[in-house]
Amino acid sequence: MYEYEKLKEKIKLICENYNNSPIGGYITGDGPIPCDILFVGEAPGKTEVQEGKPFVGMAGKTFEKYLNYVGLTRDNVRITNTCFFRPIKIGESTTGRKTIKNRTPKVSEVSLFKDILDEEINIVNPKIIITLGNIPLNRLTNFKTIGSCHGVLFFNEQLHKYIFPMYHPSSLTYNRNEDFKQMYVNDWTKLKEALKQF
Ligand code: URA
Repeated sequence: MYEYEKLKEKIKLICENYNNSPIGGYITGDGPIPCDILFVGEAPGKTEVQEGKPFVGMAGKTFEKYLNYVGLTRDNVRITNTCFFRPIKIGESTTGRKTIKNRTPKVSEVSLFKDILDEEINIVNPKIIITLGNIPLNRLTNFKTIGSCHGVLFFNEQLHKYIFPMYHPSSLTYNRNEDFKQMYVNDWTKLKEALKQF
């Protein structure tokens, strides 16, 4: 556990010293260490920073629903992110009010946390890593887009780990059509099947 405390210190240092672009706080991962199943998301949003845990906002509600659907709970899995701070965009509304929105982390921001995520994977020592969306997929594999590889179990030679790419749960908010939803549900069913071998 000492190793993980050191890792949390490193995350804190990176986030507190970052001043290239606006950020809105940071979090660390959540769940048991070691753990056979590791989910890796993109970056925290407002609710995650408020509560100090990944996937507890709107996308988190969807995520947890499907996690339960395959017979898992948050206590059985480790959940972390590719970028540990909340990337934000500060703007102005038409009435002149200051607005704060989430933004996708930049490549340079993902790179800032490269060693951190690698170290977390080492410490957690999962049998399978489930990437949620394109950001962790691009960081951990050579796949370009989630559309080409979701719902299939791969062995990643570099990491020496099994990887199961999935769409990010927030994609359900953007793709409201039935076909997409069905495909998303099928991917979770395929994950349930894949998990039987671990
Ligand atoms: N989306 C993510 O990718 N990570 C979180 O922690 C929350 C929402």
